[in-house]
Amino acid sequence: MLKIENLCKRYGRFQAVNNLNLHIPKGEIFGFVGPNGAGKTTTMKIMCGLLSATSGKVIINDIDVIDKPRALKSKIGYMPDFFGVYDDLKVTEYMEFYASIYDIKGSERKKICMDLLELVDLVDKKDFYVDSLSRGMKQRLCLARSLVHNPDLLVLDEPASGMDPRARVEMKEILRTLRSMGKTIVVSSHILPELSELCTSLVIMEKGQAVMSGTVEEIVKKVYHSQIIRVKVIDKLEETIRVLQEYPNVDGVDTRGENVVEAAFKGDDKFMSDLLIRLVENNIPVVSFNQLDGSLEDIFMKVTASLEE
Ligand SMILES: Nc1ncnc2c1ncn2[C@@H]1O[C@H](COP(=O)(O)OP(=O)(O)O)[C@@H](O)[C@H]1O
Ligand SMILES: [Mg+2]
Repeated sequence: MLKIENLCKRYGRFQAVNNLNLHIPKGEIFGFVGPNGAGKTTTMKIMCGLLSATSGKVIINDIDVIDKPRALKSKIGYMPDFFGVYDDLKVTEYMEFYASIYDIKGSERKKICMDLLELVDLVDKKDFYVDSLSRGMKQRLCLARSLVHNPDLLVLDEPASGMDPRARVEMKEILRTLRSMGKTIVVSSHILPELSELCTSLVIMEKGQAVMSGTVEEIVKKVYHSQIIRVKVIDKLEETIRVLQEYPNVDGVDTRGENVVEAAFKGDDKFMSDLLIRLVENNIPVVSFNQLDGSLEDIFMKVTASLEE
């Protein structure tokens, strides 16, 4: 769906994006994670054809954005990180205004606008002035307006910034719904745990570069050479520890409470499934067997710390 190749952007002498390469398959919720100033907004604007690159390519559905931004306009919905001021506009007028920009007319326009207000749960507010809405509502309205032309690709710059926890959960739900409707979503945030839950893949950006990219699981694996598996049993704790310790690639075993052990290991999914079989063959009464995720926050700190060295 979307490929970024050797993308660079300089503002004067300042290098905001530095040789970025990314591939985003169709149907993903792809996250851009990074601190302020990492280059997320710049990259997203270039992706949408709103800003020119200094060099490099952005290709969406085999079309070069930099050469032909017009051909792609109808395919992309962009939600900026900054919501403008709209003094005298009511919610429906705001939506209809954006729909009219895309030449959507008459009863079709009314229907699309109402359907979108329903999607973002703002039907109750349709006759309110935009400026009277809460920040979370404004952001949902902004999302709705970016959807008026039914784009395949949504580029959302910090859609949950400044929202309270409840509003964030609602925003995530809306994004999941949009994904289930077949849209590809690119979303940025500097709030990390949020994206690890929502996204299928992500890139960690720092100083205009991709420090790491891949599925959330891949990133966890890259950062943690050693992974942790937690096993809960009904009893036979000592035997469990023995079986785990005897298994190759298990580096250490710790007990956690009465019937729980954690083992550090190096290996892939096959390794984990073999380990579970081994436990069962040894008649260990396993209640649960799961891999512990490193929190994205931890990963991010590790990855960016290694950059400073
Ligand atoms: N129009 C501009 N002129 C000069 N520098 C800019 C401009 N826009 C952004 N920058 C700088 O480029 C860097 C990346 O900015 P941005 O893409 O907004 O990062 P992010 O969205 O990750 O916070 C920052 O250091 C920012 O100050
Ligand atoms: Mg930004």
